[in-house]
Formats: sequence, structure tokens, C-alpha cells
Amino acid sequence: MVEKTDWWKKSVIYQIYPRSFQDSNGDGIGDIRGIISRLDYLSELGIDAIWLSPVYQSPMDDNGYDISDYQVIAPEFGTMEDMDQLIAEGRKRNIKIVMDLVLNHTSDEHVWFQEALKGEENPYHDYYVWAKEPNSLKSTFSGSAWEYVPHLDKYYLHQFSVKQPDLNWKNPSLKQEIWNMINFWIEKGVGGFRLDMIDLIGKEPEKLITADGPTLHFLIQELNENTFGAYDLVTVGETWSANPEKAQLYSHPDRNELSMIFQFEHVCLDQEEGKEKWDLAPLEPARLHQVLSKWQTELVGKGWNSLFWNNHDLPRAISRFGDDRPEFRELSGKMLAIYLHFMSGTPYIYQGEEIGMINTPIQDIKEADDIETRNMYAERLEAGYSKDEVLVSINAKGRDNARRPMQWDGEKHAGFTTGSPWLNLNPSYEAVNVQTALENKESIFYTYQRLIQLRKTYSCLSQGLYQNLPTGNPSVLAYRKYDEADAFVVIVNFTAQDQPHSADLTGNGELFMSNYQELSNHSNLLRPYEARVYKK
Ligand code: GLC
Ligand code: CA
Repeated sequence: MVEKTDWWKKSVIYQIYPRSFQDSNGDGIGDIRGIISRLDYLSELGIDAIWLSPVYQSPMDDNGYDISDYQVIAPEFGTMEDMDQLIAEGRKRNIKIVMDLVLNHTSDEHVWFQEALKGEENPYHDYYVWAKEPNSLKSTFSGSAWEYVPHLDKYYLHQFSVKQPDLNWKNPSLKQEIWNMINFWIEKGVGGFRLDMIDLIGKEPEKLITADGPTLHFLIQELNENTFGAYDLVTVGETWSANPEKAQLYSHPDRNELSMIFQFEHVCLDQEEGKEKWDLAPLEPARLHQVLSKWQTELVGKGWNSLFWNNHDLPRAISRFGDDRPEFRELSGKMLAIYLHFMSGTPYIYQGEEIGMINTPIQDIKEADDIETRNMYAERLEAGYSKDEVLVSINAKGRDNARRPMQWDGEKHAGFTTGSPWLNLNPSYEAVNVQTALENKESIFYTYQRLIQLRKTYSCLSQGLYQNLPTGNPSVLAYRKYDEADAFVVIVNFTAQDQPHSADLTGNGELFMSNYQELSNHSNLLRPYEARVYKK
């Protein structure tokens, strides 16, 4: 039995979207050798682990979330030798590699599905979910979730694209194959797993149940027992349906399921209630604070939080929650970082967040790559929306925003590639890039670096208690974070205007950290996007 250190509780995890991180061979596509060449940079930032979005063999219909072989590396990303080297080079720098596991579906080009199509007699047929008649289930990527196969005269389930058939977790051989595959990666020495859309695997599609199916937690406990449970690994489940009660089921240490989940309540506040993410509504900072405060208090001793503003499916944090105008970009980015990183849980940084990268608006759907965006555009135009209206939604929420190449320097293609990039860069790269950020000691990069270090120095940050502090102003958010050793008060202004707050919130503490260089004389007035931390 391996000793469990729970190393991930004090860690900060950095997400890499391999296609867009660093190209090493000039084909315009980021790859594993490119990542290896940037490990020293990540080591300077101070992160403990990399969550690597899928690098497995795939026809790339959903950029790798459609896997056609879980144990082969996609040629555009490199080879298994490159992968082994990434794990080894990471280890030299105390950086663990967390693999992305897509267990709800495969690619239709996976050999299992190719066999399944041969007919009901084929042993792989039952690895997938079939129905004689479709029901009303919809695909996340638009249209029906059922696809007709003429020669079989039946339908298969795909909750995502038609090229992503859903796996049938009721089939015992399928489960065994998945467990073997996970154990293959554990033996390679990876640091853990992110489990894509894991809340869907207990589905009962004939009853219209997708998330939180009756067998879900049993299946995860079985997974744990047969694979990662015996090791000192991190596991994080993607669960759009989670609330704090459900989060306890996944992450309570006694239940032997996962280390933690990604919950998404705070990233669903800027949409019209009961509608889709494309139906935009203004974000109310006070509501955001209420939601995050709830998560901070309800998992204490009963689970573990993940902390994040963005990932490869979400818009850039600054454009969404802060302010991407040049004068406020870094200021608001630092404010968001400080506000989140004093909370309890494990923070995740999405590539480029640490240099304050922003959204990339498009003028025409031709500039979009993402399958979700393109399908939605077609569907909404059909439904009578105007092009302009749909583009507004795409520019606010489309997934390409996060997937633009990483901005390394001010040279051609920002140092991402010497060839022609698979997706155009954000035009800001001459000003916003790693090189510029590293040269300026006041840049947002160093705010992230310091926050990561603080987490190692003060366990109060990762696991202290959280107390919401009322400020008398809905645009000013504050909380106290404390344990036996330390107490911090975090106060932030979520707007571009000066904001007063009523009470003296500082609790006689000393100013410990701020995103402004000059200190303010007005203790009860916060400047635009000002963040202050007091320590007692
Ligand atoms: C998850 C991934 C997303 C992908 C989807 C289907 O949400 O993060 O990128 O499209 O699952 O696998
Ligand atoms: Ca490449």
C-alpha cells in the first residue's frame, strides 16, 4: 500500500491544451516536445502538476476529446517516447503529469465502435448504447443525441458529437478494459487523472437520465478500487451537475471516490436562468460571491474544492469576470487571482491566465474552429436568430477564446510556431506575452508566482476556515480566512469605478498584499479592481 500524502491539497495545477501551447516542429500544432521545452518556465511559475488535455490518438473531431486509442499518442502530438520523456522531465522538476480520461464516450473511429457496427453478435456491440427508437435526449453539441445506423436499423447514443458514441458502463468487459487502460497509465508514473464528464457514466438514457444516474457512485467506487485508489494520485471529476451535497458524495475522504470535482455553478451565473450559456445575462458580483462562499463553507471536513476561473471550454477569465481594456487588464486579472487563491481547495491555472491573456472576438463564423460553436451557429440561424446576435454570444462564450495559441513573445506567431498556426493568434500578443511578463517584476505573472508560494507557506490558504464578510456594497467582496496560526482578510472591488465599503473590515490587520503599487490613504475606498489582503 502506497502512503497517501494528499500532496494535491497544497498544490497548484496548471492546465495545458496541447494543441495551443508550444509547437516544436513547425507544423502549426502544439506538441509534447513543445511542452517539454517549456517545463523550465512552468517550474519558475512554481506549479506542482500539469493537467494535460487529451493527447491520445484521435480524429480530432472534438480536438482530442474523441479518442480512438487510449494507449497511443496522436502523431501530431508526438510519440509514446515523447510522453515518457515528458513524465520523466516533469519529475526532475517536481511537476506531475495529470492525464485527461474521457470515459463517457470514445471516437466512432475507435476499434470498439468499428467492431460494434458489425452487428449485435459482435462482443463489442454492447460496449455502446443502442435504441430501436430515439427519444427526446439532445446532444450538447446541438440536435438529437441519437444517430441512426441504417444497416443495423437502430440508433446509437451520442451526448456530444455524432463522432463521439456513448460507452455503455453496464457492460462488464468494457469496465475491465477501461480499468486496464487506467492502470497502464498509472504504471507509466502519471500524477493522476482528470475525469471528463464523469457524472454521465451512470446514465439511463431510456429513462431520460443522463447526469447523476442511479449507479454513478457505485461505478466511481469500483473505478477507484480497481485503479487509482491504491496510489497517491490526484483525481478530479468534471461534474456540471454538482451541488455541494453531490460534491460530498464524490470527494468525502471516507467514500473512496475522487480527490475533488470541478463544479460549474459560478461559471453559469452570466446566462439567463434556465437557458443556455449563449443566452447572455450580466454577472452580479454579489451573486458570484454568494455562490463561492457557499462552496467554501459546505465542504469543510466533508470534501475538497477545486478553484478555477477558466479552462479550455470557457472564455478567458479577464474578459469574462474582469476587464480586458488595456488599462485594466492586468489590474483586474491580479484581482481575480488574489480573490480566488486565498480560498480553500486546489487552484487550477489555465495556460496563459498567468500572463493575462484575453478573449479573441471574431467577425465571421469562418474564423471559428470549435465544433460546439459551429453547430450552435447553424442551429440558431435556422431558428431565426440574426448572425450578429449569435456572434455576440460566440465572442462572449465560445470555446475558441481559450484555445488561441499561447503568447510566448512579441515575434511572429508569438513564438508559438515557426509555421502557420492551426488557429489564429489573439492580436494582443505583441504586448501580452510571456517574455514581457517575465521582464516586468510588477506583472501579473509575479502575482501568480507569489500566490503559489504563499500556498506552500501558509496552510491557512489551502485549508483554513472561510467566513464571508458583508461589505455594505454589492460590488465589493470580502472574506476572512483563518486557522490557529494565521488570519487573512481579502477585500476586492469587482468594478472599474471607485467603491466605498462601510465597515472597517481589516480586523486591525496589516496590509499584506495588493494589486496596486501605491498604497491608498482611504482605507474605506477601493480603487478600480483593487484587491487588498490584510494579515493579522
Ligand atoms: C468535456 C471537455 C470538452 C469536451 C466534452 C466532451 O466537457 O472538457 O472539451 O468537448 O467534455 O468530451
Ligand atoms: Ca507540432
